[in-house]
Amino acid sequence: MNEDFLLMIPGPIPVHPRVFRAMSMKIMPHRGDEFNKLFLEQSDRMKKIFKTKNDVFIIAGSGTAAMDAAIANIVQPGDKVLCITSGKFGERFRDIVKAYKGAVIELKYDWGMPIKAEDVKKALEKDPAIKAVTMVHNETSTGVRNPVADIGKIVKSTKALLVVDTISSLGGDNIEVDNWGVDLCASGSQKCIGLPPGMSFISVSQKAWDVIEKTDGTCYYLNLKKYKNNKYKAPYTQPVSMAYGLKEALDIIDECGFENWIKKHEKMAKATREAAKSIGLSLFPHDEKTCSNTVTSIKVPEGIDGQELVKVMREKHGIIIAGGQDHLKGKIIRIGHMGSVTEKEIIVTMACLQMSLKDLGYNTELPSILTPIWKI
Ligand SMILES: Cc1ncc(COP(=O)(O)O)c(C=O)c1O
Repeated sequence: MNEDFLLMIPGPIPVHPRVFRAMSMKIMPHRGDEFNKLFLEQSDRMKKIFKTKNDVFIIAGSGTAAMDAAIANIVQPGDKVLCITSGKFGERFRDIVKAYKGAVIELKYDWGMPIKAEDVKKALEKDPAIKAVTMVHNETSTGVRNPVADIGKIVKSTKALLVVDTISSLGGDNIEVDNWGVDLCASGSQKCIGLPPGMSFISVSQKAWDVIEKTDGTCYYLNLKKYKNNKYKAPYTQPVSMAYGLKEALDIIDECGFENWIKKHEKMAKATREAAKSIGLSLFPHDEKTCSNTVTSIKVPEGIDGQELVKVMREKHGIIIAGGQDHLKGKIIRIGHMGSVTEKEIIVTMACLQMSLKDLGYNTELPSILTPIWKI
């Protein structure tokens, strides 16, 4: 495979060489004291990223494993779950609930539309038997950030649990598990934390534990009671090399300063949005105030095939961006700016995007510095 490409999809991300170097260290015994210490220190450090005092578990498995764990440990057949959907990953939560035979009540929005807290309030008032509410903080399929804090205020005053997917935002956006009242927060390694794919994280509140203790879940590998009883680790073989990588990735974030790390994501997102708008493109989210900090979703201009645009970016410039999913295929493009992505990558990506659009017949005037390059 030609390795000379720039990965600008919304995860996995280009991993810092320091993380890969750390991962190449010799494997230590996964049940030894030295490894236990290293592993539990990283779960503790993850609490700072989640902004929580709740338990945080590290799971071997991609982000979906943490979503699965959240549902499998609280849902029994027939339990009512309010699933808020406004994109692909909200729908994934709904499908996981269905897989555990929960009774799904779907609060559905068109993709790209913001979720409204008052709709959640109405749904909970209408059915007080609802056991949990699922939602996605950063809907990667649309580039929309959803109002978890507002929804948390509502869910907190009920007996329902708030279950949130922060897979594409944790580390790259402000997430306040405790202040927002998130009971189960699922996240993944391959986005803003800066690791390769294959590890996930989940935080569990006391309110969630009270439900988990009473739930006769059908899961085995993801049974959180077993994790807790095994001194806060899965009672199976640990992802040793990923744990080394996590330590290094968290060191990189600490060296930058966590709040600066988030600010950097904010800056990259703004730069991407403004660059897109400057050449006449429109953002996909219905309301710009809801635009994500970590992935920018842009409408493909009328008359241009979005899939072709992704192909030109890849084949001509070696830049890999994402297209739309499901019914948005060909209609939007998505650019990820997560982890250690800097201005340099944004400049190259947006310059090449403008040239690729011009190749496909979009009427745009290249800056003088790009014109001779485009003509080559
Ligand atoms: C918001 C969101 N949820 C869930 C997932 C699924 O995570 P994974 O592919 O790591 O299982 C993704 C992956 O892109 C995501 O962006």
